[in-house]
Amino acid sequence: MDNENVYLPKLAKIINIKDEVNGARPIKTFRAQLLTETNFSHRCGQCAMVSVFGKGESMFAISSSPLVKDYLQFSIMKMGRVTSSLHSMKEDDIIGIRGPLGNSFPIEDWKGKKLIFIGGGIGLAPIWSVLQFALGQKKDYGDLILIYGARTSKDLVFKEELEELRKEMTVHLSVDVEEEGWKEFVGFVPQNVTDKKPSPKNAIAITCGPPIMIKFVIQALGDLGFKDDQIYTTVENKMKCGIGICGRCNIGMHYVCKDGPVYSWAELKELPQEY
Ligand SMILES: Cc1cc2nc3c(=O)[nH]c(=O)nc-3n(C[C@H](O)[C@H](O)[C@H](O)COP(=O)(O)OP(=O)(O)OC[C@H]3O[C@@H](n4cnc5c(N)ncnc54)[C@H](O)[C@@H]3O)c2cc1C
Ligand code: FES
Repeated sequence: MDNENVYLPKLAKIINIKDEVNGARPIKTFRAQLLTETNFSHRCGQCAMVSVFGKGESMFAISSSPLVKDYLQFSIMKMGRVTSSLHSMKEDDIIGIRGPLGNSFPIEDWKGKKLIFIGGGIGLAPIWSVLQFALGQKKDYGDLILIYGARTSKDLVFKEELEELRKEMTVHLSVDVEEEGWKEFVGFVPQNVTDKKPSPKNAIAITCGPPIMIKFVIQALGDLGFKDDQIYTTVENKMKCGIGICGRCNIGMHYVCKDGPVYSWAELKELPQEY
């Protein structure tokens, strides 16, 4: 970060807002353009603190690919103070952005490998930047597979983009319970992983979603023969400073905001079991 005051956000204008999911747990995707900075560059999996002036700031995954330079994208579920304020904002409104923060997926090390993206609900947002990056550099990677699910079809994010994605990679969708007109898998995401049986040969699996889903996805991948260092996920501990100062997010001596949020399962198993 090049600001002298590390807590000072960069100003950004919201240029587009898209309703992804309505109902009890609404999700909106925001695209924002920085007002002054022209050389903002992030890596896949990095996050940023997004602030609403007078309300506060929260950490979100940057869901746009690093290859996209025109805007930064965040997909945000309405939870409390900051996210509700964001959900009530309009295009042209000004927000603050601090970042990019944290580490990233080691996508350069994965060249030549098959990538299996496994997401649940809003958990597709942190995966989306790395998935889009891999698609943009398709010749560098093996097969690309997405296994993604939500409670109902209405809770799936990026619905239109998912249909477009089918032209370029394998997409397996699921909903938790039977619903009229649904032709794909019915059941939880880990069950869909077991059903589709992706091979661990020369593969990396990247999974994000609710902690309970991640736990059972890792179990399912282990049963299929995936080794701990073939599985990557993100940890979303509560955060305040985002830069390794306040101690809010730590697991033992480890600051998730600075050293994470991306970990291999092999790395996570070495940390104290507090997350
Ligand atoms: C690294 C990281 C990446 C994230 N990426 C995304 C993303 O891409 N999209 C997205 O929608 N959300 C993401 N989150 C979660 C997001 O930061 C929280 O939902 C947000 O901070 C809630 O702020 P709020 O002021 O609206 O809610 P608050 O008023 O602070 O809280 C509302 C409720 O949410 C709970 N809550 C708040 N933060 C968290 C958290 N981190 N984990 C569990 N429960 C929490 C509170 O305990 C409370 O019950 C991410 C979090 C982290 C740490
Ligand atoms: S959020 Fe302050 S140390 Fe991580």
